[in-house]
Amino acid sequence: MSDHNPITFIGAGNMARSLINGLLNNDYPGSAITASDPLASQRESLAALGIQALEDNNVACADADIIVLAVKPQVLGAVIGAISTIRPDQLLISIAAGVPVASLSAWTSADQAIVRCMPNTPALMGAGITALYSNEQVSKSQRQLAERILDAAGKTLWVDTEDLLDAVTAVSGSGPAYFFYLMEAMIEAGTRLGLDAATARKLTIETAYGAAVMAREGSENPTTLRQNVTSPGGTTERALSILDAAGVKDTLDAALAGAMSRSQELAEEFGQS
Ligand SMILES: NC(=O)c1ccc[n+]([C@@H]2O[C@H](COP(=O)([O-])OP(=O)(O)OC[C@H]3O[C@@H](n4cnc5c(N)ncnc54)[C@H](OP(=O)(O)O)[C@@H]3O)[C@@H](O)[C@H]2O)c1
Repeated sequence: MSDHNPITFIGAGNMARSLINGLLNNDYPGSAITASDPLASQRESLAALGIQALEDNNVACADADIIVLAVKPQVLGAVIGAISTIRPDQLLISIAAGVPVASLSAWTSADQAIVRCMPNTPALMGAGITALYSNEQVSKSQRQLAERILDAAGKTLWVDTEDLLDAVTAVSGSGPAYFFYLMEAMIEAGTRLGLDAATARKLTIETAYGAAVMAREGSENPTTLRQNVTSPGGTTERALSILDAAGVKDTLDAALAGAMSRSQELAEEFGQS
């Protein structure tokens, strides 16, 4: 495959746009990108980016090497069912949460090369993390291509078995909400302690950002980083002992297990649509 294989996006909502913008920013030529969306206003704004914007999914898929499925999971089966121009030699990349590869191949072909991804919301800011899974039909060069497309929205990693995508959903898919929840609680607590809301918000968000930078860019793991800021008899130790006594770690364990089992349930629902 060449450097700039034609890519078609079916559905040009938030997620597709962030990938398209990322690709354009990474010098992928607009002439090699097509997006299809039913809404005329969406197509107009896509055309303004210098890519081809189409209404007809069949035309959009005909000449693509890669087709990125970026519609809502609930409609994916019907959308694919109405496209007759998908060929097994084209790489199908689905970013639809919860739709299993078995369904995608049942709706296309048993020989279809398929990559199923689980991105997360920070992808909209180019700061996402996407886990990818490929079926056996996907070649090495197609894997590299899938990685390149999803890299446009942040970091990527591969999982070896599809069921791990449910665990990924529990950690990074739903994960941003856990951090927002923690931020909400810290902002509320800060205001109860006497700070004005804007100050509590700024302190909380910059602290979350700073902690993430330390965990990501530094050489220490989160456990060591936490220990390093927890002096015996100090304020952090007092706060952490209250979190421990309340069983916050166990609660998080149960929360992630709940998210994973909900992801498994949704796969059953969406896979039959
Ligand atoms: N946003 C996230 O953080 C996130 C995270 C992980 C996974 N995902 C997955 O990414 C996918 C897209 O999410 P999103 O947030 O980008 O959703 P979205 O903004 O609703 O985008 C979906 C787009 O598909 C269009 N569409 C609907 N029917 C179509 C058809 N028959 N042919 C072509 N386009 C059609 C919609 O148009 P109309 O608006 O006119 O209906 C809309 O523009 C979903 O499957 C979701 O599970 C999203």
